[in-house]
Amino acid sequence: MIILDKVSKIYPHSTHPVQALKDISLTIKAGSFTLLMGPSGCGKSTLLNLLGGLDMPSSGEILFDEKSTKYFNDRDWTALRRSEIGMIFQFFNLLPMLTAQENVALPLLLRGDPADQIQKKAVAVLEMVGLGHRLDHLPGALSGGEMQRVAIARADAISPKLLLADEPTGNLDSKTGQDILGLLASRTKASGLTLLMATHSQQAIEHADQVITMKDSEIEEIQEIS
Ligand SMILES: Nc1ncnc2c1ncn2[C@@H]1O[C@H](COP(=O)(O)OP(=O)(O)OP(=O)(O)O)[C@@H](O)[C@H]1O
Ligand SMILES: [Mg+2]
Repeated sequence: MIILDKVSKIYPHSTHPVQALKDISLTIKAGSFTLLMGPSGCGKSTLLNLLGGLDMPSSGEILFDEKSTKYFNDRDWTALRRSEIGMIFQFFNLLPMLTAQENVALPLLLRGDPADQIQKKAVAVLEMVGLGHRLDHLPGALSGGEMQRVAIARADAISPKLLLADEPTGNLDSKTGQDILGLLASRTKASGLTLLMATHSQQAIEHADQVITMKDSEIEEIQEIS
């Protein structure tokens, strides 16, 4: 379970500081698929970045399974990301000089998994996302949907408890976007992980358990979908 307790984020600036999040309090249940929706600039990416430890709240507190991250330093966040948090982005963020398999293997190498298991695991997760035939391709030789599948495989490889996805279908055509949504939803159900996804896609709602709508840096509505 993830708890945000009065989380605010102000981006400092000499003349125009931006309050990107205002007193956000919410609970995200373990194993749920939650959507983060709302107009451009309402604070979705900021919220995801705080949950991934890529940026720090200005005030308030984030708890993972009742454990506070208030006094986490960079090393604590790095350790948490390597073991428990996968991230997926709109522009895939794959390393262009590494093959699909090498991109997926990288987080496992970085956290020091046993060498003989790394390649096996990388191949297995790529097969799971339907890319067993593209292991040696560089990202530049893959389609957008295939690149996003590699990114999902890379995030999935560490068997995260939490997957954060920032507009993962924002750069894909609607059919490919649907496929990627279906893949993310089925991975969430199959592995019991928690998925929090920022999106503008109405199509995503049918897969979700909860929809959080934000407006002007605040939560406007929380909708449970039965
Ligand atoms: N690094 C930054 N420095 C200053 N202001 C920022 C920074 N990042 C975001 N902002 C501002 O914070 C607000 C929230 O931005 P955020 O990226 O979280 O919005 P978003 O909901 O993800 O929008 P979109 O749907 O366009 O991706 C915006 O007003 C934005 O201009
Ligand atoms: Mg955004």
